[in-house]
Amino acid sequence: MSYQKLLSNSILAEIRAEFPVLHQEVNGKPLVYLDNAATTHNPQAVIDCSSKYYSKYNSNIHRGTHKLARLATEAHEEARITVAKHIEAYHTEEVIFTSGATEGINLVAHSLALSNKINSTHNIVISTLEHHSNIVPWQQLCERTGAELRVISISEQGELNIKSASELIDDQTKIIAISHVSNALGTINPIKEIIELARDKGSYILVDAAQSAPHQSISVKDLNCDFLVFSGHKVYAPTGIGVLWGRKELLEMLPPWQGGGEMIKEVTFEKTTYNELPYKFEAGTPNIEGAISLAAALDWLNKIGLEKIAAHEAALLYYTTDKVKEISGLSIIGTAKNKAAVISFIIEGIHHYDLGTLLDQMGIATRTGHHCCQPLMSEFGISGTTRVSFGVYNTIEECDLFITSLKRAIDMLS
Ligand code: ALA
Repeated sequence: MSYQKLLSNSILAEIRAEFPVLHQEVNGKPLVYLDNAATTHNPQAVIDCSSKYYSKYNSNIHRGTHKLARLATEAHEEARITVAKHIEAYHTEEVIFTSGATEGINLVAHSLALSNKINSTHNIVISTLEHHSNIVPWQQLCERTGAELRVISISEQGELNIKSASELIDDQTKIIAISHVSNALGTINPIKEIIELARDKGSYILVDAAQSAPHQSISVKDLNCDFLVFSGHKVYAPTGIGVLWGRKELLEMLPPWQGGGEMIKEVTFEKTTYNELPYKFEAGTPNIEGAISLAAALDWLNKIGLEKIAAHEAALLYYTTDKVKEISGLSIIGTAKNKAAVISFIIEGIHHYDLGTLLDQMGIATRTGHHCCQPLMSEFGISGTTRVSFGVYNTIEECDLFITSLKRAIDMLS
């Protein structure tokens, strides 16, 4: 394994200088933030963008005739163009702003139920790796329609079992909803192979890109999927903003899931006709500042380059994996060949919560628990793990500090 793809110290120093939140002590220790799969921080460019919006042109969009409303509307729709270009959408109006990946999945599942295109002869396919947000909406869809929920199995390493996928996906599969990267284990799924299976059977495919969007460029054209979701707070933008992308013809076919202002063309007490895309799916005042800040975050990421970021994070992943593997009693959960920058682990005789609490006392921010993946944890026969996840601003020195602190914490808890 090579660590040569790390960003240079000077570039890293420049990047870190852009994140005010990193420069603080937590519990009297310098913060080492290793919880990026849960939430990434905002660089100054994004904070400035958000602050400028609120201090200069905060207004409702598509409604006002005044200057500030025009500026806000223009910036919001510019943000949509930025997102559309970033994911190589076929049409800008295929980009629907949501509150996050969770809302995007719920939107598709709910609208599909409303569309009457799913019934008890159909099945929905997900995988054992999924986050609750890519399980529960489909369970609810199945409850509403009588469709069957099928689950692709995984190997001991936490890799999708392609044979299981090809056995489960059949002519009655209406939609396959799969994460691109597992939040709990970091497994990078062979998404193109799954998409091909979907194409063969004529089923729709939704890609949950919440955990891949921070680490690699995403092209919906290249993926050839039907729907794709991701969240702002995983790509160095604020919380409460996300994206649903869907093929235009599918979004046009689906009924809106929420009613309200902006999503209508005409309302009478007898009947409502709906607005065109993307507004049909954006009822009510959206998170305007969130959308504008998301675009700023994507611009910021693209300035550095996602390939360079992925290489840097992979170097941190390999380096830290090699070191933690040597710790006695420690087992890594999720040892797929293809992994994003996530290490989930358990330690014999030590509860993950105690470990996470002690690491926090040492200034190291990790996540502990089931990571919103209870069925996945059950598959491994565990209640949860301690998880570290790297972002663009993490350094080798932080990995070393984490490893030293981990060893100390283990000694204290043993
Ligand atoms: N889904 C986020 C995580 O994995 C919150 O931590």
